Amino acid sequence: MWDQLPLILCLTISCVCFADADVKCELQHNGNNEQFPKEFSFGVSTAAYQIEGAWNEDGKGPSIWDNYTHMHPERIADHSNGDNAAESYHRFAQDLVALKELKVGFYRFSISWSRLLPKADTTVKNQKAIDYYNMVIDKLLENNIEPMVTMFHYDMPDGLMKFGGFTNDIVIKYFRFYADILFETFGDRVKKWITFNEPFDYCLPGYGSAYFPPMIHAPGVADYICMDNLLKAHASAYRLYKAKYFHSQRGKVGITISSRFYYPKNNDAEEVVDRGLQYSLGWLAHPIFGKSGNYPYKVIEDITSNSMREGLAWSRLRPFNFYWSKIIKGSGDFLGLNYYTSRYVEIADPPLGENPSWERDSRLKYSVDKNWKRAKSNWLFCAPKGLEDLLKWIRDNYNNVEVYITENGWSDNGELNDADRIDYLKAHLQAVLNAVNDGCKVTYYSHWSLIDNFEWNRGFTEKFGLYYVNMTSKNKERVAKNSAHYYRSVIESRKISSSDNFV
Ligand code: BGC
Repeated sequence: MWDQLPLILCLTISCVCFADADVKCELQHNGNNEQFPKEFSFGVSTAAYQIEGAWNEDGKGPSIWDNYTHMHPERIADHSNGDNAAESYHRFAQDLVALKELKVGFYRFSISWSRLLPKADTTVKNQKAIDYYNMVIDKLLENNIEPMVTMFHYDMPDGLMKFGGFTNDIVIKYFRFYADILFETFGDRVKKWITFNEPFDYCLPGYGSAYFPPMIHAPGVADYICMDNLLKAHASAYRLYKAKYFHSQRGKVGITISSRFYYPKNNDAEEVVDRGLQYSLGWLAHPIFGKSGNYPYKVIEDITSNSMREGLAWSRLRPFNFYWSKIIKGSGDFLGLNYYTSRYVEIADPPLGENPSWERDSRLKYSVDKNWKRAKSNWLFCAPKGLEDLLKWIRDNYNNVEVYITENGWSDNGELNDADRIDYLKAHLQAVLNAVNDGCKVTYYSHWSLIDNFEWNRGFTEKFGLYYVNMTSKNKERVAKNSAHYYRSVIESRKISSSDNFV
């Protein structure tokens, strides 16, 4: 969903149209073990707003995505919204059939904050929402599928926007309250918690470029405040779990961060690779998994000097004080990683983007390789080696922290014979296996997505599902694509099987 980054990023990418049929999407095995380790788990992911529908039923309150799609249909490619989507709120039984067919070990789904707490504040706790998520969790467990729950996947309760959403640090308290209810209500059965999905992709488009709700246009300032509060909210929920629930529940709490890997455009410029990574993954991972308990040094230094040059009295990026550094540092039992694609990078001279903005602070220019196959989404190119290299970078920079790949996927028009998705899946599983063979502690892989769903500003025009959903049919049947059959064969054999019989 990197199309959500400000338009400028797209403009700086050398334009490549759909790659021709000869362009391959593959990766070679590194010669070691051919089987995934016994304890390695395969799964699939979804998110509440993208699949649940029932946007105003059974006491659910509005989220910023409900209001945004209703007020600005013109901003969604097909003028659609998530009011009904795949109707998973009413059709979880159908999702379960698909999950069982796939034989996944776990299912990553998100809880809608405004379904549980319709007013966002502490006054109403919606029992119908509790019943629904209890049903989902219990059904999964009955079928030996481990629930992995994301607490926040972009759908902020609208009530919190009345006082600034993630730019007001009161949000830390609200999120902690919400997390407390989740742990207390579901924690006896849910043992894997992801506080936030992709803070970067929520804060930059939401509070920087205004490409996404809540459409606040204050780049280089409000988006940084959003990430700051979000990291604090994450760490507060993590500490709450450790203090109040861990001794009885014994689960793990982490965060999901998205990142590409970066390759130097000019061979002599290795440091731009590091720069690219510090300005994306590192911004969020460094405070939690790094040694300093703060943003990457380079990022703090650049933004401080840019702010001084702009005549500001203080930096647009507030480094964490001692109190917060202590709380944030180490506040992750695992790093959730969403990987879709990679880029080449070079220093942008002169810098690009609005002044101020993340583009300008990071001073990077991105491009792609003409040998990378392109998906339906204009930002998504097949670069599996990038996943392998990113996992090794994490191993080397964050003390080989345990990594769960919480998303990885390919978009098309929804064809049942989805040979390109199979190639993508196969190549990326190979990247994971190569990394595992090279000592990276990757223990979960989740494909995005179980079913076709509402793809944010792209509406229903880009499909990521292993299962096709006819959004206009009455029963919204889930139909297995060829990629679903292929994924199941890998899960069963725990080996990257040949894809010949599946196309
Ligand atoms: C997001 C998903 C989205 C996917 C494809 C991910 O970054 O978490 O919600 O559907 O990208 O754009």
